[in-house]
Amino acid sequence: MMEKMKVGVIGATGMVGQNYIKLLNDHPWFEVSLVAASPASAGKPYHEAVDGRWLMKSPIPDVLRELTVADANDTKAAMDKCRLVFSAIDADKGFVRKLEEKYAQQGLAVVSNNSAHRLTPDVPMIVPEVNWQHTDLVAIQRRNRSWQGGLIAVKPNCSVQSYVTPLYALKQAGLPIETAVAATLQAVSGAGFPGPASLTMIDNVIPFIPGEEEKSEEEPLRIFGKLADGKIHPDNAMRISAHCNRVPVVDGHMACVSMKFSGQKPSVEEIIRVWQDFNGKPQELDLPSAPHPPIVIREEQDRPQPRMDRDGGNGMAVTVGRLRPCPVFDYRFVGLSHNTNRGAAGGAILTAELLKAQGYL
Ligand SMILES: NC(=O)c1ccc[n+]([C@@H]2O[C@H](COP(=O)([O-])OP(=O)(O)OC[C@H]3O[C@@H](n4cnc5c(N)ncnc54)[C@H](OP(=O)(O)O)[C@@H]3O)[C@@H](O)[C@H]2O)c1
Repeated sequence: MMEKMKVGVIGATGMVGQNYIKLLNDHPWFEVSLVAASPASAGKPYHEAVDGRWLMKSPIPDVLRELTVADANDTKAAMDKCRLVFSAIDADKGFVRKLEEKYAQQGLAVVSNNSAHRLTPDVPMIVPEVNWQHTDLVAIQRRNRSWQGGLIAVKPNCSVQSYVTPLYALKQAGLPIETAVAATLQAVSGAGFPGPASLTMIDNVIPFIPGEEEKSEEEPLRIFGKLADGKIHPDNAMRISAHCNRVPVVDGHMACVSMKFSGQKPSVEEIIRVWQDFNGKPQELDLPSAPHPPIVIREEQDRPQPRMDRDGGNGMAVTVGRLRPCPVFDYRFVGLSHNTNRGAAGGAILTAELLKAQGYL
C-alpha cells in the first residue's frame, strides 16, 4: 500500500480548517500530521483549541484530538512534520502572502484558500476541472524564486465555483460566453466563524460582501485564461457582472446567472448535453476527491436548493437547474456549490491531488 503523504493544516481551528480535518480523515493519499493556528490557540490540544466552536457534524477524529496546535508562524517546525500545508488562515493579506512564501521557501508545498496570492502572476489559481494546465506555472514559479520543491497554488473565491465550471464546459464545447450576469446568494459559513450576528442575518439579506464582486468578476477570467510566455493571459473576450448577497443559509452558495453567447445561440438541449457529457482532468485521472459527474443537472423547476443539493457529489459537484431562455440575454440558469467543501477545503484537496498526480509533490 502507498505510504500516505504527511500534510499540515494551518488555520486548522477555523471554519475551513475544520472542514480539512473532516475531509482528510481517512484520505487515501494524505495524512494530517500538523495542525497550526494563531498564537492564541498554539500550545493547546486540538480539541481544546476548538472547544465551543467545533462545527462539523462528525466528531473530531480520535488521532487528532490530543495533537498540540502549533503556531502557524513557526514555519521551521512544519518542515520536519509534513511535505504540504493547506492554508486556511484568515488574517491580513500582506501577512498571509509572506507567511505562505516562507513555507514554500523552506521546500513545502502550499495550497491556499486565502486570496493573498490569487493574482500573483506566477501563482496558479486552480479549478482542477477547468485549468489543470495552469499548474505548469509551478516550474516558472520555482525558477523565479529559486524554490527547491516548494510551491504555492491557490483556490479561487468560493462564490465563483457555482458558475465557473458550467460556463467553462460550454466554452470548451465551442460555445463561448460573451457576457454573464451572476447574482449570488451566499451562505453565512462563507464569512467564517462566528460570522455575521444572528440579529443581522435572520429575516434579512445583506446586499454587500466586501471585495466579493470584484473577485467574482475578475477571477473567472484568469481561470479561463491561457498560459503563454510564462504568464496567464486572462480571457478578456468575456465580461462578467456580479451582485453578491449574504443570505441566511448555513452552507451552499447559489448563483442566478444570465448568459449571452458570443457566437450562434445553442438550443436548450445542446447546453444540457454539453453539461451532461462534461468531464475534466480530475475525473479522467480518477482523483480521490473528484465528483462523478462534476456537473449535476436537476430537472425539477424549483431546484437546485442549498439544503437539498449542496452535498451533490459528496459536496464537490456543481448542481445546475432552471435552464431557460432569457428575454434580455440568451439563457439563464441557477448554479449551486458547497462553499466550505467544493468552494474551500474540498476544492483545495482536489488541487493537491492534481499536483501529486502531475508529479509536483
Ligand atoms: N468560509 C468559507 O466558505 C471560505 C471559502 C473560501 C475561502 N475562504 C478563505 O479561507 C480562509 C479561512 O476562512 P475561515 O472561514 O475558515 O476563517 P475563520 O473561521 O475565521 O478561521 C481563521 C483561522 O485563521 C487563524 N488565524 C487568524 N489569525 C492568525 C494569525 N495571525 N496567525 C496564524 N493563524 C491565524 C485562526 O486561528 P485561531 O483560531 O487561533 O484564531 C483560524 O484557525 C480565509 O482567507 C477565507 O477568506 C473561506
